[in-house]
Amino acid sequence: MDTHKFGKEGWTPDSIGNLNGKTFVITGTTSGTGFEAAKILLSKGAKVVMLNRNSKKAEHTVKTLKQELGSHIDVLAIKMDLAEQASVKKAAEEVLKTVPQIDALICNAAIAQVPKQTLTVDGWESQMGTNYYGNFKLQALLFPLIEKSKGRIVTVGSLGYNMGIKTIKFDDMNWDKDYTPNNAYSQSKLAQIMCVYELQDQLKKAGKTHVKVYACHPGASRTSLIKTSGSLITRFVWQLMKLSPFVQSAEKGAYPQLMCATEPNLDQKGFYGPTGRNNWTGPVGEHTLAPHAKDKAVAKRLWELSEKETGAKWNF
Ligand SMILES: NC(=O)c1ccc[n+]([C@@H]2O[C@H](COP(=O)([O-])OP(=O)(O)OC[C@H]3O[C@@H](n4cnc5c(N)ncnc54)[C@H](OP(=O)(O)O)[C@@H]3O)[C@@H](O)[C@H]2O)c1
Repeated sequence: MDTHKFGKEGWTPDSIGNLNGKTFVITGTTSGTGFEAAKILLSKGAKVVMLNRNSKKAEHTVKTLKQELGSHIDVLAIKMDLAEQASVKKAAEEVLKTVPQIDALICNAAIAQVPKQTLTVDGWESQMGTNYYGNFKLQALLFPLIEKSKGRIVTVGSLGYNMGIKTIKFDDMNWDKDYTPNNAYSQSKLAQIMCVYELQDQLKKAGKTHVKVYACHPGASRTSLIKTSGSLITRFVWQLMKLSPFVQSAEKGAYPQLMCATEPNLDQKGFYGPTGRNNWTGPVGEHTLAPHAKDKAVAKRLWELSEKETGAKWNF
C-alpha cells in the first residue's frame, strides 16, 4: 500500500465515511485502544458490540461514551472473559442471538508481560490462552455470521511478535521451562499474527475470499496494558516511557485497527501500524513484517494444534 495515499499524516479516521447500518464487534473496550476505537466507530454512526470481562467497567464505559457522544449512540455490552473458553462460547452465542450482521470483528483485548507463569482455567499459559486461544475460538464461533455479512476479522498484534524466540515453542507451549514474561507474550502475539495469514490461505482454498482478514498493531501507545498485568518494575519503566515522545496517544494507537476494519480495498497481505521511528509512532500505513511471521509450516502446525486444543470448528 502507498502510505502517501493518505498524505503526510498517513491513514486517519477522516477516511471513514458514515457507518450507519454497520455493526462492529470489538473486544476489550474498557480502556486503551479498544475504548478509542469504539468511540470513533460510534461517532461515525456504527453499532458497536463491546465484549469485556468486567461488567462494572463495561457499564462505566457505556456511560462515558454516552456522556461524550450523546445518548443516541448504538452501543451494547456483552460479558466475555477471553481467558475462559466457556465464557467466549457463551458471549459468542449471545452475539449471534443479538445482532443480524458483523461487518468487522476487532480482536483487540489482550494481557501482556505477566510476571510469573500462570495458567488459565483451560490449562494454557495465560497470555497464550487469553490473547491467542481466546481469539481463535471467538473468531471460529462468529465466523458464520461474519461470512454471511461479507465482513472482516481484524487482529491487533504487537511488534512484540519479533522480540521473543521468533517461532512457536511446540514442545513446551506453556513455558514450563524457561518462562519469561516477554517470551510468553511475544509467542502469543506471534501466534495471533500467524493465524491471520493462515486464515487468509484457508479462506482462499475454501473459495471464501469475501471475508477479509487483517493484522495490525498500535505501535507504542499510552494505554493500561502494562499497568493491568505487568510486574512492578515493568510498570515503572513503562510509566516513564509513556511520558516520552516515543510513545503516542491511545487514540492514535487505535487508528491501525480502525483502518483494517473500515478501509475499502486494503491489501490483506500487509501488516499495518505506525510507519515512523521503529514503527512505534508516526503516520499509519503498511510496513515490513519479519518472514518468521509467515512461516507456512509453523502456521499450519499451529492451526491444527489450535483446533485440537480449543475444539473450534471453522465450518469452511
Ligand atoms: N499499548 C501498547 O503500546 C501496545 C503495544 C503493542 C500491542 N498492543 C496491543 O494493543 C491491544 C490493546 O491493548 P491496550 O494497549 O489498549 O491495553 P489496555 O488499555 O490494557 O486494554 C486492554 C483491554 O483488553 C481487556 N482484556 C484484558 N484481558 C481480557 C480478558 N481476559 N477478557 C476480555 N478482555 C480482556 C482489558 O480489560 P480490563 O479493563 O478488564 O483489564 C482492556 O479493556 C492489545 O492486543 C495489545 O497486545 C499494545
